[in-house]
Amino acid sequence: MCGIVGAIAQRNITPVLIDGLKRLEYRGYDSAGIAVVDAEQALDLRRSVGRVASLEQICDGVEGHLGVAHTRWATHGRPAEHNAHPHTSSFQVAVVHNGIIENHHELREAQKQQGFVFSSETDTEVIVHQIDWHMQQGKNLLAAVQATVGELKGAYGLGVVSKQETDVLIAARSGSPLLVGLGENENFIASDMSALIPVAKKYMVLEDGDIARVTTDKVEIFDANGQAVQRDIRISTLSDDEIELGGYAHYMKKEIHEQTRAITETLEGRLGADSVLELPFGDEARDIFDAAKQIKIIACGTSFYAASVARYWFEEFGIRCDVEIASEYRYRKHVVDPGTLFVTISQSGETLDTMAALDMAKGLGYTNTLCICNVAESSLVRASDLTIFTHAGREIGVASTKAFTTQLVVLLMLAICLRRRRVGDGQTIDDMEREIVQELRSLPQQIENVLDLENDIIAMAKHFTHKHHALFLGRGAHFPIAMEGALKLKEISYIHAEAYAAGELKHGPLALIDEDMPVVAVAPNNELLEKLKSNLEEVRARGGKLFVFADQHSGLTSDEEAMVLEVAPVNNYIAPILYVVPLQLLSYHVALNKGTDIDKPRNLAKSVTVE
Ligand code: AGP
Repeated sequence: MCGIVGAIAQRNITPVLIDGLKRLEYRGYDSAGIAVVDAEQALDLRRSVGRVASLEQICDGVEGHLGVAHTRWATHGRPAEHNAHPHTSSFQVAVVHNGIIENHHELREAQKQQGFVFSSETDTEVIVHQIDWHMQQGKNLLAAVQATVGELKGAYGLGVVSKQETDVLIAARSGSPLLVGLGENENFIASDMSALIPVAKKYMVLEDGDIARVTTDKVEIFDANGQAVQRDIRISTLSDDEIELGGYAHYMKKEIHEQTRAITETLEGRLGADSVLELPFGDEARDIFDAAKQIKIIACGTSFYAASVARYWFEEFGIRCDVEIASEYRYRKHVVDPGTLFVTISQSGETLDTMAALDMAKGLGYTNTLCICNVAESSLVRASDLTIFTHAGREIGVASTKAFTTQLVVLLMLAICLRRRRVGDGQTIDDMEREIVQELRSLPQQIENVLDLENDIIAMAKHFTHKHHALFLGRGAHFPIAMEGALKLKEISYIHAEAYAAGELKHGPLALIDEDMPVVAVAPNNELLEKLKSNLEEVRARGGKLFVFADQHSGLTSDEEAMVLEVAPVNNYIAPILYVVPLQLLSYHVALNKGTDIDKPRNLAKSVTVE
């Protein structure tokens, strides 16, 4: 989604801005731009549709010590050069903006009356005209931004520069992440610390309502009441190692293959000889787990499917668990049972709907809030009582893979901790826990074995290249795995894919089956296998083509109508974590055959920071 970089320095900052934008590309965007205050104290504005590389080509000769830059993911107004940020007001002020301004219609009408001319269809343009108007009334840049944000309704992360104050960079935040990176006689702003890896290790996170006045050697922050405030200086742990492709053609492929390491690191220090340890989850973990009588999990997309798998585990262990999509949860009424632990799951920790759901939950009487997250420096982590990190390492491919499997690992560990209280005294380890812990230990190796199926999956993927639709089937905890498989295929190959609980076939989707509708199924050897086999027979009887990932002992074999890839036997609780891996690989190779932009699929963003 949209990204912001800004810089003020004694050197030419154009290369810093362009490099920062490149580092934000993974978030997803459709246009990019830069505004630099040049040596003549004029605003040099360059914008282009498409990749940052195209913008870079038109930035030859752009030089200055102060500027802002942006990658835009269109919300108001189509992707077009005139809608790309920065926006200027008669080249007096330039603004980059993440978020959505809800009262832009009213402001636009008032500004037209004042004589401002609009050159875009964006909600952002009203911000820059409003700042300009306040400056025309005699305010300095900081005061003009303070006055303007007081008139905005909605969410914003802002970077602002003016040709009238060439030694000041202003940043403002409400509902959209923004931070200030601290350098040596130079300072920066960014929506995501990864934009600043080569130039700043130290940074400060702005809180909602904050406005920062940034110069080369000073950062002053004012809260929503205009009071000067201090924000903690943090040290970033991000490094460039995580963003190297390391010989892989795509980040998605790299991240699929990294799952063995990611899971090993997620388990690291959290397992005892035969149990899940609680202390590594934090000092508060024990009390929070003790107080949790049931849980409510909120998430979006892939993280929601992780929650949906976990629901089977929690309920199997006797713990009531409700799971809901954040964008639905936040707009309805709730009855909260006492002792409910509110859990959010998010790879990025910046998903706006999930953040808003957490905000709302805090006022509703949940006992505690816990988040499962992959990004230590994220908003969700800061807002939650307790965080359990998935140590997946940076995930860059828009299609989530290693974040999903590590989320499942964390959720299974959480379920075990809560189960211990449900079936015993909270301390005693029983045989079931011992068995699951041993299986978790062997999971990285089991994933390695599944990755070895890649050549067979490449052969399977060829059958999908010219298809327009696909159906994914699973039962029990593998139904959400089928949903995740379908999401992966549609995200990166643009093939329409639907997932169904296999038992639902005859209630409608069976009507779709013909030789043009490939049916993908996951068939672990569990108590639902025979039921699933009957469902697959229903498909076969109607001329459907089956592509099945099945346990070696399932009795399912390849023939003219079915391609069956065998997976080694696996413990039932662990199975969903393993069975999603071949589905990830299948989507990847279908997309590769189709030649799509795998890491940055059209219309999608890695971090969904708008509603
Ligand atoms: C996953 O492949 C998707 N790109 C998307 O559904 C994602 O999982 C969703 O936007 C939630 O993101 P989060 O985990 O960062 O909150």
